[in-house]
Amino acid sequence: MDKLVIKGGIKLKGEVEISGAKNAALPIMVASILASGESTIYRVPDLVDVMTMGRLLANLGAGFHYENGEAIIYTGELNSHTAPYDLVKTMRASVLVIGPLVARMGMAKVSLPGGCAIGARPINLHLMGLKKMGAEIKLDKGYVTARAKRLKGARIYFDIQTVTGTENLMMAAAIAKGTTVLENSAREPEVVDLANALNSMGGRVRGAGEGTIEIEGVDELKPLSYTIIPDRVETGTFMTIAGITGGDILIKGCIPEHNEALITKLRAAGLTIKKHGTRLRVTGPERPLASDIKTMPYPGFPTDMQAQFMALMSVAEGTSIIRETIFENRFMHVAELRRMGADIETEGGVATVKGISRLKGADVMATDLRASASLIVAALAAEGKTNIHRLYHLDRGYERIERKLRGLGAAVERQRDD
Ligand code: EPZ
Repeated sequence: MDKLVIKGGIKLKGEVEISGAKNAALPIMVASILASGESTIYRVPDLVDVMTMGRLLANLGAGFHYENGEAIIYTGELNSHTAPYDLVKTMRASVLVIGPLVARMGMAKVSLPGGCAIGARPINLHLMGLKKMGAEIKLDKGYVTARAKRLKGARIYFDIQTVTGTENLMMAAAIAKGTTVLENSAREPEVVDLANALNSMGGRVRGAGEGTIEIEGVDELKPLSYTIIPDRVETGTFMTIAGITGGDILIKGCIPEHNEALITKLRAAGLTIKKHGTRLRVTGPERPLASDIKTMPYPGFPTDMQAQFMALMSVAEGTSIIRETIFENRFMHVAELRRMGADIETEGGVATVKGISRLKGADVMATDLRASASLIVAALAAEGKTNIHRLYHLDRGYERIERKLRGLGAAVERQRDD
């Protein structure tokens, strides 16, 4: 296992290029199942989760090849419909194959994802939708099987806005018989990117990003040739880094419109943020100001930026209230930030953060992807050295982050963790 060793206190300055979005790459890689032939997806980030998804697709009989940002997936001879436990347990996004497999092969057998560090994360809404589309669903020995000769269009209402639930059913509906309407669907940019990818395959998806999505099923889709959107969470993480280090960072190859809620809150915290097309120029204040947030489905403040924002607030002037409404346990980073001196109290989904003037470097442990990002944000501003252990959490979602940080002047290196 590796650790990241960071010496804090340096104002990060310079330029950073944003990678492709992990949460767009994963569903769009799965969409290749819906067609037979060779798909190529561009701007795919070099991440552990992408390689895990590649292994999962290979497990179904697909060919998978990844080389500097391009994922080539051959789905001419799929020969299995099972996503095994050992793969699903490492990446819950594996559940995305259920809908496309039932749609393409009439059958899917997928290990139920266990809970994870941030919450139970059930998939009941994914299965409810498939049932409405005519699939026979069975749960047995930790596996869910779904069967249908041919899925048929249905009207589906989501009690809770679910990103992968919306994506799963949008893909299943793309080659179902008839029209499907998804109501109260997730509006995330990654959902819109998947809709655009499906339409580039010959799909007929309308209304993605607006809450009600209408999908007219077609008999056949053609393989993908598609470039995915940049990662708005990586963008947000670097904005927060500029804020906490009092630095000056030019973020290139991003889509500022995907970060409106975060930009509003970072400006309230005293950062200067200028938009120039696909670039953001972010300069941090001497000391950030306290600002309250409440995580909400897109376009609200993103839960995936809550931990990073909390790190910034831990050294702000004043007290901020952070409400996490999406996941029931997404405060795993609090105990680690406290080890660095942060003054944070939590009660259920509410954290009260009393800003202190300076964090102190310490040994801390990554617990989930975005918690590890918040520890990097904190370590870059802390006095002295911080060792961030269990780095595999970070490698799931951030492409070559230490190289990008060094490019901005950070004193950071990856070491073997004895
Ligand atoms: C996606 O997870 C993202 N992952 C998550 O990013 C992100 O945090 C989350 O959306 C919220 O924005 C991918 O896109 C691969 P949900 P997902 O279904 O789809 C409940 C990261 O850091 N729910 O939108 O799994 C669920 O428990 C990851 O990159 C049900 O109750 O999240 C949660 O409370 C972490 N039943 C809420 O809905 C269901 O059937 C939102 O979950 C489905 C979801």
